[in-house]
Amino acid sequence: MFKLPVLPYEYESPGKHMSAETLKYHHDKHHQAYVDKLNIALESAPELQGMPLDYLLSTGVVLPDAAKKAIINNGGGHYNHSLFWLCISPNGGGQPSGKIADMIIEKYGSYQKFVEEFSSKALGVFGSGWVWLLPNGDIITTSNQDTPITMGLSAPILCLDVWEHAYYIDYKNKRDDFVKSWWDIVDWESVSSRLDTPFSI
Ligand SMILES: [Fe+2]
Repeated sequence: MFKLPVLPYEYESPGKHMSAETLKYHHDKHHQAYVDKLNIALESAPELQGMPLDYLLSTGVVLPDAAKKAIINNGGGHYNHSLFWLCISPNGGGQPSGKIADMIIEKYGSYQKFVEEFSSKALGVFGSGWVWLLPNGDIITTSNQDTPITMGLSAPILCLDVWEHAYYIDYKNKRDDFVKSWWDIVDWESVSSRLDTPFSI
């Protein structure tokens, strides 16, 4: 049985960047629903129970047709949100340093250019989806709850949820305001740690 992870901060902590109301709905309702539906899907596939989620979402597993869609959608929802909560912190923001900063500057020329590129991809996602930073510095987007590991790519180190449920309470339809504000809570220490220890669940 998969479980909803506990947030590593209080609902109120991200403050003006992400309200407690948004976090409560997003974590307690939306994320919880993915966990519940994933567990229900796995009831029909007992041979997969107890397997790590990374494995279930990887290209190396053949999922039974009856449960495949539900596992990909809800397993992706659980994986993506579990990483998303780790990417932000009330003490976040500012510019990265160390290895992660070197990687970004080598690939994009400057932190600012990287932010522009990532933000532009976030605004370019049509409908619901995600933006990802991979360990090699590539920025990619996915639709719905698709996740890079299902595409055979490395575990991502940073992600941004651009589903409307991530920002509508605080920013209404203004995804650009949400993305701009989100940079002030990105936890670069956490992002950097995933260069050495890939995210796994
Ligand atoms: Fe979400």
